[in-house]
Amino acid sequence: MVRRKPLVVVTRKLPDSVETRMRELFDAKLNLEDVPMDQAALVEAVKTADVLVPTVTDRIDSAVLSQAGENLRLIASFSNGVDHIDVASALNRGITVTNTPGVLTEDTADMTMALILAVPRRLAEGAQVMISDKEEWPGWSPTWMLGRRIWGKRLGIIGMGRIGQAVARRAKAFGLQIHYHNRRRLPTGIEEMLDATYWDSLDQMLARMDIVSVNCPHTPATYHLLSARRLKLLKPEAYVVNTARGEVIDENALTRQLEAGELAGAGLDVFEHEPAVNPKLIRLARHGKVVLLPHLGSATLEGRVDMGEKVIVNIKTFMDGHRPPDRVLPAML
Ligand code: DGY
Repeated sequence: MVRRKPLVVVTRKLPDSVETRMRELFDAKLNLEDVPMDQAALVEAVKTADVLVPTVTDRIDSAVLSQAGENLRLIASFSNGVDHIDVASALNRGITVTNTPGVLTEDTADMTMALILAVPRRLAEGAQVMISDKEEWPGWSPTWMLGRRIWGKRLGIIGMGRIGQAVARRAKAFGLQIHYHNRRRLPTGIEEMLDATYWDSLDQMLARMDIVSVNCPHTPATYHLLSARRLKLLKPEAYVVNTARGEVIDENALTRQLEAGELAGAGLDVFEHEPAVNPKLIRLARHGKVVLLPHLGSATLEGRVDMGEKVIVNIKTFMDGHRPPDRVLPAML
């Protein structure tokens, strides 16, 4: 008897090499036009698929999962974060969920470091001056466009997992003092290697930092972790950088504080209601107070190919009857 290939529905266009391999291995239903699927299309997908490969732009909620056909046994997400999936619902239905950890760590940490540099050193503003039709660069001046030094400043990292630690390694090389808050304290050896100071109390850490970088996942426990109250603890000279998930920060409260001059600036790669961006943040960006990026943290060709390969390994391992390497477990949520 010939065993049929699993029907793998992929919700977005993936790098060519990944799609080619998926076609070879699976009965792959690809989205070559890259049109994002609405909830109705996702429902159709889960009704027929053996495996669903969603991305961070798909909302796989309990309503979608309640329509899943009997064949759907695996959701192999093309993402590190899994907050777009109701994982508890999926697991309750006996559907395994996997993600792609590890392969986007360095790229995301690079982008975090880029924002840590960009905002205090006014990179986006400076670049704009050079190409502006309205004003011409008047030439070097001792007092023009001064930013703030980052060397020697205190960086508070919220979430010291793989990405947080990769940010710490880079920031240490730039002369920043590393502080962190995490669910669990790191082993002493890693703390020593990073020269990192652990803060059990997030509130106390926030009050003392010059730059705060959000690097934790979005879970029910981290939703609005940087709440209006906590943001008020920051010094007015402080900067906030977020390459994790918009939902970890109360974006309205952050915007209000930036507008009121109660914070020096922010570098944001992610937004609370993505792809919608608060128009007030856009206005602040026009005035150089914030740098906004369109969720580019893992956006390298190498990173996206590696993510695709991880998805393939997860599917193949699962279909061969083994535990896929990147299972999302309830304890991780
Ligand atoms: C992820 O994978 O979680 C990133 O945010 C997008 O690549």
